[in-house]
Amino acid sequence: MSTEYRIGNFKVVVADDEAEFDRLAADEVTRLLQQKPEAVLGLPTGSTPVGLYAELRKRYREGRISLRAATSFNLDEYVGLAPEHPQSYHAFMQEHLFGGIDLPKERTFLPEGIGDPQLAAARYEELLAKYGPIDLMILGIGRNGHIGFNEPGTSFKSGVHPAMLTQSTIKANARFFASEDEVPKQAITMGIGNILAARRIMLLAKGASKAQAIRATVCGEMSEQVPASALQSHPDVLLILDREAAALLVADQEAGASCRIG
Ligand code: PGA
Repeated sequence: MSTEYRIGNFKVVVADDEAEFDRLAADEVTRLLQQKPEAVLGLPTGSTPVGLYAELRKRYREGRISLRAATSFNLDEYVGLAPEHPQSYHAFMQEHLFGGIDLPKERTFLPEGIGDPQLAAARYEELLAKYGPIDLMILGIGRNGHIGFNEPGTSFKSGVHPAMLTQSTIKANARFFASEDEVPKQAITMGIGNILAARRIMLLAKGASKAQAIRATVCGEMSEQVPASALQSHPDVLLILDREAAALLVADQEAGASCRIG
């Protein structure tokens, strides 16, 4: 059974195991689709949401959910990778989610990785304005607290923009490429302002490598040095964590310590 905490403006749910983690995240999406079949979803890539996407594909196969009327916006895409490139986020989404559900292709949006990045960012901003606001923005988090490719130092007011990847993100993402040199150095990402404009935010984190970033997000000073700390200003944020990612946060809670750090 999962454990729930309310810390500041965050609802924090700590899952007991991987299967529960994926189920809890999928339950949020399922509930939203039941209430609002035409919902607009904000979607992340990375290893964290892979289990959630598998669970959504399963629920679709079982006839429990349909995304026929929904719309999706991915957070980001690498600059320089065509949609057919196996490491592009277009390809990732096709493999892990879009290929196994009924979301119409013309309403699955990702930034264009090919062509002028400034133009691609401006076009994506327009699409968000046309179809938004996002009803449920699903996020992963980087070890340095990044959300999307909003690395430390990004303005909390930022819109869609081309962003340079930090060395730590390039290293973390190198596992998907033949070598570190092949990791694109730039991406187009929704800005923190776009993320905060969503009606509801669900941030997912698994593993001990995220524990520090999670604690800083929830209990640290709100600072552009920790991009995810911007979520402290949003009224409806749900964190779904595994025990490892929640460890530092939970230790503070159990010791009765104040959440504030820094
Ligand atoms: P991960 O990436 O899910 O692969 O850990 C998350 C992120 O860097 O935003």
